[in-house]
Amino acid sequence: MLKKLSGLSGIAIIAILSLQTNAFAQNIVIPVETQHNALVLQTNKSNNLNIVYVGPTLTDKKEYEEVAAQYRQTDEYTGVSNAAYATTGSRSLFEPALTVTHADGNNSLDLQYVRHEAKKIDDNVSLLTVDLKDPIYNFEVRLFYKTYFKEDVTEQWSEIKHAEKGSVVLQKFASAGLYLKADNFWLRQYHGDWAKEMQPEESKLTHGIKTLDSKLGTRADLFQPPVFMVSLNKPATEDEGTVLYGSLEWSGNFRIDLELDNQDNLRVIAGINNHASPYTLQPGEVFTTPAFLSVLSFHGKGEASRKLQSWARNYKLLDGKGSRLTLLNNWEATYFDFNETKLKALLKDTKALGVDLFLLDDGWFANKYPRNNDGAGLGDWQENKAKLPNGIASLVSEAQANDVKFGIWVEPEMVNPKSELYEKHPDWVVKQPNRQEYYFRNQLVLDLSNPQVQEFVYNTVDNLFTKNPRLAYIKWDCNAVIYNAYSSHLKNQSHFYIQYVQGLYSVLQKLRKKYPTVPMMLCSGGGGRVDYAALQYFTEFWPSDNTDPLERIFMQWEYSYFYPAVSSSNHVTDWGKQPIKYRTDVAMMGKLGFDIVVSKLDAKDLQFCQEAIKTYNNIKPIIWQGNQYRLQDPAGNAVAAVLYLNEEKTSGVIFNYLVNNRYAAGSERPIRLKGLDPQKRYQLKELNLYPGTISSINSNKTYTGEFLMTVGYNPDVKAGRASVVLALNVIMENS
Ligand code: GLA
Repeated sequence: MLKKLSGLSGIAIIAILSLQTNAFAQNIVIPVETQHNALVLQTNKSNNLNIVYVGPTLTDKKEYEEVAAQYRQTDEYTGVSNAAYATTGSRSLFEPALTVTHADGNNSLDLQYVRHEAKKIDDNVSLLTVDLKDPIYNFEVRLFYKTYFKEDVTEQWSEIKHAEKGSVVLQKFASAGLYLKADNFWLRQYHGDWAKEMQPEESKLTHGIKTLDSKLGTRADLFQPPVFMVSLNKPATEDEGTVLYGSLEWSGNFRIDLELDNQDNLRVIAGINNHASPYTLQPGEVFTTPAFLSVLSFHGKGEASRKLQSWARNYKLLDGKGSRLTLLNNWEATYFDFNETKLKALLKDTKALGVDLFLLDDGWFANKYPRNNDGAGLGDWQENKAKLPNGIASLVSEAQANDVKFGIWVEPEMVNPKSELYEKHPDWVVKQPNRQEYYFRNQLVLDLSNPQVQEFVYNTVDNLFTKNPRLAYIKWDCNAVIYNAYSSHLKNQSHFYIQYVQGLYSVLQKLRKKYPTVPMMLCSGGGGRVDYAALQYFTEFWPSDNTDPLERIFMQWEYSYFYPAVSSSNHVTDWGKQPIKYRTDVAMMGKLGFDIVVSKLDAKDLQFCQEAIKTYNNIKPIIWQGNQYRLQDPAGNAVAAVLYLNEEKTSGVIFNYLVNNRYAAGSERPIRLKGLDPQKRYQLKELNLYPGTISSINSNKTYTGEFLMTVGYNPDVKAGRASVVLALNVIMENS
């Protein structure tokens, strides 16, 4: 079917397009390069845009054109199996990025190259756009490739629009595709549940499609987060091998398809999950997909993660280069059982402990249905008069009197059926009109696709700040998944999952406009919602409700591949059997907080914590902004070790833990350091000693960087010295 375009007949359009095709008959090559990586796009004979190379940058750019000819794989039948943005219904035989039903009911789409434009945004960031168009239908896609040169990170997304005579339904609308060639591919993926986040699994990809996805709606990552790694040729180790990290910047349902095809090449297609979400696009409307980010390293997982962490701090995470507040949280110390007197005592404890802020958790609100347990009150964000007769304001003043800051917990997207909010606005709640309600933690989700609900959620947080201008921190929780997805506001229910997330972002954008820097923790009953779209609005996230330090060593290790330490809220709690020193040392590996009953600590434990906080304040710039080197994996070793090293390679901190309690388990062999200057001499000194203990590390000795990286050091970890923190410092030449 031919469509009219700008007054030209369909025949004329074909002529123009074929002219363009002829003009580009020699094939257009578009290298998308960062410092070390290249993704090379090339048009084929039929003017489709393909990916012809993903690998190290080549010096002679002309040679990118020679890559394809060096492969003698099985027949390529379609000419588009390596499409930059695969479609359905024309020649493609594989998993699509984009599937549409046109206004006339036809399901075919063919995208041809029209033009491209490369812009330099600054010295480090560039943006390439490539326009594609269907030769028959008035349907267009613009592909975006945003590259971060130094960090080797690429973000890809698309804009989809049309000028057909009616609406078009987008059946699948992924953000981007990649096409990789290697002998074989190894996927490292993650799964989990409450208190069991970031459990890794690594396997060789076999032919067919492996899909990583979520259909949970709100805390979308509860069972599976959108982060993954693909090693090429063989599983990458920390320091060797080619590995690609990927993730989708989207806080709702996602879908990542990894398809090993008949040619043994890997197609990666990532985007919003189209599950239950065909999107009806009106003529002239632009649908923008979220960014898919990727980073490629040829020197193992360690380098890839350092690149990603530094990209996150420089460009994504809110205030990534800024400071963070240490805190005392009352959740595990009191749960719902507190009142003003108790909290005022905790404010004194906050000061005595030496942290920056007191964080009041769940339970401070609701009157008709008081929030005394998790079965009632969510949605009624007025101070509970019995617990807080003088309101939050008096706690904020009391905090100030104690010279500490004050922060507060909210879960503004949620509602308990037992609440005044539910009684007043049943139509604001996500639930099926004709079905029985079904609850997750006794609660339901508010319909953020509804602008009135967006306003309510915005006001919930805004009111807290307007009434308490000195409020210094928000913990934003989100505990329920979406069951019975239905919005009484939306005409098209298929838009619900997408518009929910868009509604959430518009609230967060509005809040950030008014409160650009106030620190906020992204929490979802643990790490159920961590992704790089959300982290643009949050300064930190809560990896898991599981704060058992032994578990956290493993979890934080896996999170650290994708997220920088400055974003990881780690609290010392009473989970686990380890002594306070072990718990504190583990929590110090990110953004330190406490959630313990300070008044019940014995004198030595309290003294230890107070000194540890002072030590932390000295070393936190290295932990937050330094380069992280994973030295010894907790999986498969008795001792785990991680180094944080400043950019100048002059100061570092090494955390070492016993993670195996078998007889005589300990650091039998030295642990080799990484990233040091081989020529410089370094001194190792133990930090965080428990009062009354003496270090077995001789801090008078110095070692060359070469020695520490070749032979290593022994932290003397063993039962009784299960947790050892070492400061590493360069010895000045003439000292
Ligand atoms: C979630 C959070 C916890 C705590 C509770 C309060 O589970 O992860 O840290 O805030 O909610 O109900």
